[in-house]
Amino acid sequence: MIRRIKGTEDIYGGEIALWRFVEQRFIEVAQHYGYEEIRTPILEHADLFVRSVGEDTDIVRKEMYIFEDRGGRKIALRPEGTAGIVRAYIEHGMTRLGSPQKFFYIGPMFRYEKPQAGRQRQFHQLGVEIFGSPSHTADAEMIALAFRYFQSLGLEKLAVHINSIGCPKCRPTYKEALKRYYSNHLEGLCDDCKVRYRSNILRLLDCKIDTELAENAPRSVDFLCSECKAHFNGLTEELRKLGVEFVVDHRLVRGLDYYTRTTFEIKHGGLGAQDAICGGGRYDNLVEELGGRSTPATGFAAGIERIVLALKAERKVPPAEEKRLFVAAADASVRERVLQIAEQLRSLGLASEVDVMDRSLSAQMKYAARKGYRHVIIIGESEVESDTLTLRDMRTGEQRRIPQERLKEEVLGN
Ligand code: HAM
Repeated sequence: MIRRIKGTEDIYGGEIALWRFVEQRFIEVAQHYGYEEIRTPILEHADLFVRSVGEDTDIVRKEMYIFEDRGGRKIALRPEGTAGIVRAYIEHGMTRLGSPQKFFYIGPMFRYEKPQAGRQRQFHQLGVEIFGSPSHTADAEMIALAFRYFQSLGLEKLAVHINSIGCPKCRPTYKEALKRYYSNHLEGLCDDCKVRYRSNILRLLDCKIDTELAENAPRSVDFLCSECKAHFNGLTEELRKLGVEFVVDHRLVRGLDYYTRTTFEIKHGGLGAQDAICGGGRYDNLVEELGGRSTPATGFAAGIERIVLALKAERKVPPAEEKRLFVAAADASVRERVLQIAEQLRSLGLASEVDVMDRSLSAQMKYAARKGYRHVIIIGESEVESDTLTLRDMRTGEQRRIPQERLKEEVLGN
């Protein structure tokens, strides 16, 4: 038997209700904030990610799914959504459309990581990107959006972490300070950090092993230029006004190279090691670096698998869908009539399922109960003759004969 690929999951059964809930609520919240959906391809030129996410990042160095297509092009399965959206923004000349352009997206991403709880090779993100606003108001809005969205799902164990990693003007001084600090501790660093010391010094701060060293390291907020400092202060003030509680996390540098100024993550208390359900920040230089006109931008992405795990950890269940109907045939002679009635009900907007197994009435009732139907309509010969329906409430067991035309109000009314 051929099994699924390591690090991928099939999503079915009871899980689907959770996924739908998570995705649909996100669409509602994003639209409430004025964001529009964008869908970009899963396949992109590998170079797009090398140039945006960064050559020295874990994602590009060891996690991308890359292959050569039949035309000899180097293609990647996207490891994240931002780069493709920036490419689309540039390719379609969206600067012309005015600012801001605000997008939301949902879709699968791929990273060749070591699978564990909350970490997969095919995973799914939902996220937003805002183009055209240099203001901290845009950062505050998208952080608030993420936080309110998680709250609207019922999640409580949330912690918002924010930081500023400065801009190309002030960051080099900070990196120097970090280099000086770590140069005294080089011998004791873990193997990964020895490499990062040379290639990507900021990443030493989020090492899971050398945590104490990172805790005492110089802090980027102390090295910000005056513009970056004002931006960060504006952001923290605005978040306070919006009622979003946060902590300033000096070690929050993020694993992708495109960030400038704001970085943030939302962590969930019930997830164990992979506790970031959401991460993002500002990337003011990426549009230009990828060949577009200089355009400030900011955004975040959240892992749907982790949101689902968080909902389970907090025992939050989506509101049950209840307005569905099962239409049962009391005997074989009325089967065709049942099919017609079900069609009529669907055209009235009432979701209706019928038996396709030629089963007895009692077997149909068992099936309807197992699938959690709230109402079953039973049609027998006498119902057909009198243009009536028997409506059974599966919760109370109460059963009533009603005229066909009253069905919609009876079902929707309770
Ligand atoms: P990221 O931090 O790499 O950022 O990913 C965002 C979120 O995706 C993580 O917080 C996590 O919830 C989820 N995630 C990442 N990798 C995995 C995995 N292997 N398995 C399960 N979930 C995962 C980005 O991708 C940026 N594009 C975010 C962004 C948007 N920044 C600006 N705009």
